[in-house]
Amino acid sequence: MKVIITTRSGKEFIKGGLDLSDSATVADLQDAIHKRTKKYYPSRQRLTLPLPTGSRERPTVLNYKKTLDEYSEGKTTLTVVFKDLGPQVKYSTLFFFEYLGPLILYPVFYYFPVYKYFGYEGERIIHPAQTYAMYYWCFHYFKRIMETFFVHRFSHATSPLSNVFRNCAYYWSFGCFIAYFVNHPLYTPVNDMQMKIGLGFGVVCQLANFYCHILLRNLRSPSGNGGYQIPRGFLFNVVTCANYTTEIYQWLGFNIATQTVAGYIFMIVAASIMTNWALAKHRRLKKLFDGKEGRPKYPRRWVILPPFL
Ligand SMILES: NC(=O)c1ccc[n+]([C@@H]2O[C@H](COP(=O)([O-])OP(=O)(O)OC[C@H]3O[C@@H](n4cnc5c(N)ncnc54)[C@H](OP(=O)(O)O)[C@@H]3O)[C@@H](O)[C@H]2O)c1
Repeated sequence: MKVIITTRSGKEFIKGGLDLSDSATVADLQDAIHKRTKKYYPSRQRLTLPLPTGSRERPTVLNYKKTLDEYSEGKTTLTVVFKDLGPQVKYSTLFFFEYLGPLILYPVFYYFPVYKYFGYEGERIIHPAQTYAMYYWCFHYFKRIMETFFVHRFSHATSPLSNVFRNCAYYWSFGCFIAYFVNHPLYTPVNDMQMKIGLGFGVVCQLANFYCHILLRNLRSPSGNGGYQIPRGFLFNVVTCANYTTEIYQWLGFNIATQTVAGYIFMIVAASIMTNWALAKHRRLKKLFDGKEGRPKYPRRWVILPPFL
């Protein structure tokens, strides 16, 4: 089969195109492009079918597992559009670096005399609430790193390198912002009962969050295959993104126990980001499981925060 590869502006990307066997897959085509261009390894390539001029529709992205034949509609020539996605990193690498920052930076504010650089020279008394908050925080980010490597089964192998800088800026700066206020020498702790209720509730939510991740993991095979399934069991019987629900509530527990404006700002920002993702995930599952042509119908569920959404 002859494959013509163009750029998005319609220019020929590989002179003369490529000749591949009739049974070749999209992955074979990506390998062949890599061999010719060196710089563009397969995960950096996005291949789509061309759209008619002026069309505003989204182009069909070629699935690397499918054969070229499935896209050529019986023709011997196939035209595909190439887009460079930029340098890529593994998903686990992205998650590891974004979580490593808060895991290391928060204890720096607790253990080291950083406040003297902010003009506080006096003795610093550490309250039990600050100590427990530090353990809670570190446990949270350690858990996330462990889940990244040993629990999640990602469907995408890689993410653009630029996301590492963007996500690290978000997590590292919020980590410092919260750590600065919770460990501050002028910090006033909440009463003992409030701290215990907050952290106790938070720990329960973190464990529930972990269990949600196990249930999500079991929806896919170890290779990450299996696409998107209807999550079932535990809180997923009530809410589509139970993992986000428990994530938000565990930050609420942390904030009840530590009570800082910085902590609440982070929770609100994180909740609004997760709400946008949850709405998209809920829509996708309702579309995939529409109850037509033998497909199951997605059950009626809350999206992220029952009884509001
Ligand atoms: N504090 C914050 O700012 C914040 C923000 C976001 C996340 N988090 C935490 O980090 C965790 C992971 O975040 P995430 O956004 O990666 O979570 P996610 O996309 O909801 O799910 C985690 C894993 O489960 C897979 N999955 C989700 N729904 C599935 C379905 N219906 N069928 C099969 N597999 C499914 C995902 O696959 P794909 O690889 O295909 O997506 C992903 O590998 C969250 O649960 C939360 O605890 C915190």
